Amino acid sequence: MSEQQIGRNLALELVRVTEAAALTAGRWMGRGQKESADQAAVDAMRMVLNTIPMDGLVVIGEGTKDKAPMLYEGERVGCASEPKTDIAVDPIDGTRLLSQGMGNSIATLAVAERGALYESPYVVYMEKIAVGPEAAHAIDINASVAENLEAVAEALRKDVRDLAVVMLDRPRHEHIAEEIRAEGARIRFIMDGDVAGAVMAAMPDTGIDMLIGIGGAPEAVVAACALRCLGGGIQCKLWPRDEQERAAVRDAGIDVNQVLTADDLVKGEDVLFAATGITDGELLRGVHYFGDGATTQSLVMRSRSGTVRRVDAVHRPSKLSAYGVPVD
Ligand code: FBP
Repeated sequence: MSEQQIGRNLALELVRVTEAAALTAGRWMGRGQKESADQAAVDAMRMVLNTIPMDGLVVIGEGTKDKAPMLYEGERVGCASEPKTDIAVDPIDGTRLLSQGMGNSIATLAVAERGALYESPYVVYMEKIAVGPEAAHAIDINASVAENLEAVAEALRKDVRDLAVVMLDRPRHEHIAEEIRAEGARIRFIMDGDVAGAVMAAMPDTGIDMLIGIGGAPEAVVAACALRCLGGGIQCKLWPRDEQERAAVRDAGIDVNQVLTADDLVKGEDVLFAATGITDGELLRGVHYFGDGATTQSLVMRSRSGTVRRVDAVHRPSKLSAYGVPVD
């Protein structure tokens, strides 16, 4: 292994980072305070990231430096000069889910080689379609919803009406929902959290076959990291909201119609992804606190080996207090 190459042990280090974010954020379940929950997750994530032996550059973060005091895009994290990595953080995917006491919020983090992650400062949203390995070759974001459903059903050797499509519950998706219904497939609406949605679409035995719709651009890159590890397929297109975003894309010389695949969103051979459940969900169990500690459930993946680990952990009070989680 060259010094530059991202070592396999790093993957297991990363789970500590998402565990820390989940353990602190979990205390804010149902308390209606999105900002406080996010701050707790960011603080814990940053603290543990800075103990990881790497020279990490936050490429997908909490925003620009003047908007976010921590984990802003351009911030350096880690405690070594090698390997040089790109970092994508989403300390809470589903902040509203968490603050409203609903399921499926997760803490996520992805790491790739330096320069590997797609940067899209010009738009907030992307169109997305994501599936698991068996259907990776079947999707085409430029084709109709019906054509995609038929191709995915064929690849999965299923009937179209057996398919379950996960989609953010948004008015902008009404026409997609109508097309799915017209084909006879089923829809699993989620209120937030399309990183978990994409991962569910790509993993076996989740009951979800495909993610479709428009969601956050940073979340597309984070999801692509997971899908690179899982061998799934994802296609995205920038989705400018208004003329200002369209002009920014144009001025940057970017073709708004370009189809971005998993390999465009995250390049290179070494991609790591970790996620820990905050509130109980279909993908991951959330944080459960007990008298003198807490349990977490996480996923850790590595593209080079394709290994996917589910990590169940019991955390003792000393660890919780180190992250600033009240234990009394
Ligand atoms: P946050 O938790 O970071 O707010 O993101 C939640 C989320 O649902 C993402 O999973 C999704 O990509 C995006 O918001 C969708 O944006 P919007 O809520 O504006 O439709």
